[in-house]
Amino acid sequence: MNKLPATIEIHAPAKVNLGLEVHGRRPDGYHEISTIFCTIDSCDTLLLHAHAEPGLHCKTPGVAEHDNLILEALRELRSYCQVEHGLSIDVVKRIPIAAGLGGASSNAAAALIAANELWGTGLELAELKILAGQVGSDVPFFLSGGAAYGTGRGDTLYSLKFPMETRFVLVSPSIEIQGKTPGLYADLQAPDFSDGDRVRTQAHRLIAGSSLDPELLGNAFTRPLYDRLPHLAALPALMHDSGASIVALSGAGPTHYAVVESDSMARRIARELRRRLGTSARVFVAAPIPARYHG
Ligand code: C5P
Repeated sequence: MNKLPATIEIHAPAKVNLGLEVHGRRPDGYHEISTIFCTIDSCDTLLLHAHAEPGLHCKTPGVAEHDNLILEALRELRSYCQVEHGLSIDVVKRIPIAAGLGGASSNAAAALIAANELWGTGLELAELKILAGQVGSDVPFFLSGGAAYGTGRGDTLYSLKFPMETRFVLVSPSIEIQGKTPGLYADLQAPDFSDGDRVRTQAHRLIAGSSLDPELLGNAFTRPLYDRLPHLAALPALMHDSGASIVALSGAGPTHYAVVESDSMARRIARELRRRLGTSARVFVAAPIPARYHG
């Protein structure tokens, strides 16, 4: 029998949502959505260290409160597979927290993948997906990542091709919105709901190898987000004035991104945005990354 590794380092990438439509509320309290996810090369790094004692520890300051999805994911795996050993985890956080970029969900998915190896539990991707779905709606996507069309709670996934030369200029305003995701879902009103046609059309374009249609990047959270934080409504215009032509909102925000055709143009726009925004936002350039698993 091969000896199990004692330590694993794994990257947990951020994502952007290339359009997000909410269809309506479900009887279970969740919402039915359509979105296109795309992982980007802005990553947190998790270092997991197996030990014989049963405890699960995350020592990274700041992460224990925000990213307890890691521990939730590990508890799911441990009880499903009846693992007796424990783990300690360190996280190098680079993805802005609670910013609409999926950092906490991605950390949870990465922890599941790494612990499945460290503990030698050997679950298949399909089984990990079931556990991931119990941890959070976006966690199943991050097991594979890449570009994917997501429906249901965002957990029914269909992988897509995506033009890898695309660059994103991300603007993450330095604000904390208490109870953001459930709060903004609860703020949605009938006119914010739509039937998913735009995202479906975009997904078909990508399957056909066509470019993104900027008209199809709308996000249902835009209206409730700007109602709560009216100053954010000025951000798209500021991004346009800084040279961006396509601007959209990721997840429930507050991160906005520009879609740009080249690295040099992305860096130029990012420089200008940093100059204009100062410390009020984090501005960074990111590229799409391919999926971890295929098939
Ligand atoms: O699934 P997750 O735990 O990330 O969701 C957090 C909250 O966001 C849920 O409790 C629910 O209020 C809301 N949500 C929703 N519909 C979804 C995903 C999340 O209503 N598809």
